[in-house]
Amino acid sequence: MRSIKIGVLGLGNVGAGVLRILREHSQTLEQRVSARIEVKRVLVRDLSRAREIETPEGLLTTDPSEVLEDPEIAVVVELIGGTTTAKQFVERALAAGKHVVTANKALLAEHGDALFQRAQECGRELLFEGAVAGGIPVLRAIRHGLASDRVQRLCGIVNGTSNYVLDKMTREGLAYAEAVAQAQAAGYAEADPSLDVGGVDAAHKLALLASLSFGKRVTLDSIFVEGIESIRAYDLAVAKDLGYVVRSLAIASRGADDRLQLRVHPVLLPHDHVLAGVHGAYNAVLVESEALGRSMYYGQGAGMMPTGVAVTSDIMDVARTILANTAGQASTAEDTAPPQVTRMASVVGASPDTLQHANYLCVHVAHVSGVLGRVATVLGAHGVSIAKMRQDHPEGASHARMVIVTEVVSEAAMAAAITELERGDDCVEATVRIRFMEPEG
Ligand code: HSE
Repeated sequence: MRSIKIGVLGLGNVGAGVLRILREHSQTLEQRVSARIEVKRVLVRDLSRAREIETPEGLLTTDPSEVLEDPEIAVVVELIGGTTTAKQFVERALAAGKHVVTANKALLAEHGDALFQRAQECGRELLFEGAVAGGIPVLRAIRHGLASDRVQRLCGIVNGTSNYVLDKMTREGLAYAEAVAQAQAAGYAEADPSLDVGGVDAAHKLALLASLSFGKRVTLDSIFVEGIESIRAYDLAVAKDLGYVVRSLAIASRGADDRLQLRVHPVLLPHDHVLAGVHGAYNAVLVESEALGRSMYYGQGAGMMPTGVAVTSDIMDVARTILANTAGQASTAEDTAPPQVTRMASVVGASPDTLQHANYLCVHVAHVSGVLGRVATVLGAHGVSIAKMRQDHPEGASHARMVIVTEVVSEAAMAAAITELERGDDCVEATVRIRFMEPEG
């Protein structure tokens, strides 16, 4: 049986998952690909570091050229993360005639244009299913399953860490820092977890999802991003009382003028909304397309084995292409070819100022007479109408927490009202503001 040799860059969480799947499912893989997939070399930074997986003598190297320039290696699997060295390595691998599989969403969101172009010029594949929603084959579903439809809107939970943190805070009352520490310990978080909780990781994934769904080149700067860092267990408890669950959502929709509206921010969902039932580090992407209507893709969005499955399945696709090409048959690459993002028109994201939402506000003010009047006056002056209001005082604190649910207002009016509220001497902490899901969501 023919053997296809691969080289892996990086042996962290996902790298260990890929090696385990290749080892533990080797028979299944051989049957499905009709070839043996053999890991020839794995690049690591430090040979002495303890690993998630045992490796045979001589497999690990600290010399990139032993992977990137080895003529026997046909497929390079990039799992080092980051965007600088990873970009150089992917370019070197393509230039050396290797196919590339990556799970690096930041790399593709920032340098996808150049890298897909390079792969095309080199006649090599650049696959990336593991970059979005871990093990869920959502990119394949969009590129193949929905290829004949027109996507109108997609809305997803695509950062497992943020979902895990919000879910733990809601269901177990954990403090924010403790929940983040648990997500890190479980291996869900990025090396820099601020990318997760700040919304940037989800924006990287949204850029890829939206590019494929709408056939337009979506860059990071066209996405409005707001993280979950300011949300406290108290806000989640109040939301629950009101019948809502908070989730960090990545949303892309086609506006009336055909411009895309792209955003990542926390959203209050009615407790019976389909995305409200997504717990822990699970991900889900809800797609609304013209002919099919709603379809949802759900599963584990982070972690060693789920992401390992997506990466290994991409390796198998490349292996099939290699075999088909060497057999002189028509390439199966059509099925797996990188999206032609280089031919896509760029998107200028519609400004979030055009949006309108009802909002949850938690205003922290001094517990003094007249303060409620000031808050209501400021909101009223900006045309922000109050739908509900309640107030309490944290134990031992001298300030009051005023929870206000607004009617639907424009982004601009809400932002201006919060700025003015926070200018007052009686405002003791930053206001927490969470948008309610628009009714059509
Ligand atoms: N840090 C990412 C997450 C890992 O939490 O979803 C998967 O991309």
